[in-house]
Amino acid sequence: MAGGRVIPNQPAVADYGIDAPGTVFRLVAGCFASIMLGIFIGSGVADARVVIPFAAVSIGLGLAAAAMVASSKVGIRRLWSRLLDGAALDGATAALDAGCGRGPVLVQVARRLGPDGTVHGVDRWRSRDVSGNHRSVAEANVGIAGVADRVVLHDADLWALPLPDGSVDLVTANLAFHRIADPQRRAAAVAELGRVLAPGGTALIVDWRGTATVADGLRAAGCHDVTRSGRRWLTFPPARVVTARR
Ligand SMILES: C[S@@+](CC[C@H](N)C(=O)[O-])C[C@H]1O[C@@H](n2cnc3c(N)ncnc32)[C@H](O)[C@@H]1O
Repeated sequence: MAGGRVIPNQPAVADYGIDAPGTVFRLVAGCFASIMLGIFIGSGVADARVVIPFAAVSIGLGLAAAAMVASSKVGIRRLWSRLLDGAALDGATAALDAGCGRGPVLVQVARRLGPDGTVHGVDRWRSRDVSGNHRSVAEANVGIAGVADRVVLHDADLWALPLPDGSVDLVTANLAFHRIADPQRRAAAVAELGRVLAPGGTALIVDWRGTATVADGLRAAGCHDVTRSGRRWLTFPPARVVTARR
């Protein structure tokens, strides 16, 4: 793989970070601000009708922050473990994880491919999307997971994938497409998934926003058997799964 290694002094257990760290920070800050306001205002009036709304807002924001951290640390990986176990990957030798970040899905895909399999991870490693997001961290994680020989990382945009037409049997993307703000670029990125997917290949896309557009884009890109699930509560916010065949 490109530069894959276990960096000295890195933890022996892979750490995939926290999605949308800015949002988690704002939720925690809002929680504390609400607690402080409740104490400040409530101590003056000593009236439960004033204190209870602040307590409710604090609890709501705190729970949302905790749910987002739990989703990143546990929920997402459980969801993908089930999805990949349920996908017929026998014989798949090449895969793409679009927007791989620090590698939680990349590693799971690599473990399920045959010994000669390769999974390509494509990302721009934007730190606002995942805490500590960096190519070197993804490299360290695949090294720790023992799959470095099956992973190739690419620093590229999802709307210009550096892979040939029909070159992968599986494409995965976890929470990547809603991070592309420009609708035209997002549509181009979905079309790229259809382009690189080999006939008979499978697409698995998880996101909590914009999945109807992703499903339409995959159909337009020549995919069939396109399905869009209901909300999956293993993640927060609850995400939908789009599946398709080429
Ligand atoms: C919410 S994170 C999810 C990362 C990873 N899939 C995971 O489950 O932890 C979205 C990822 O998409 C990547 N990304 C956003 N825009 C991108 C672009 N234009 N090209 C490539 N990657 C992009 C970010 O750098 C980030 O790693």
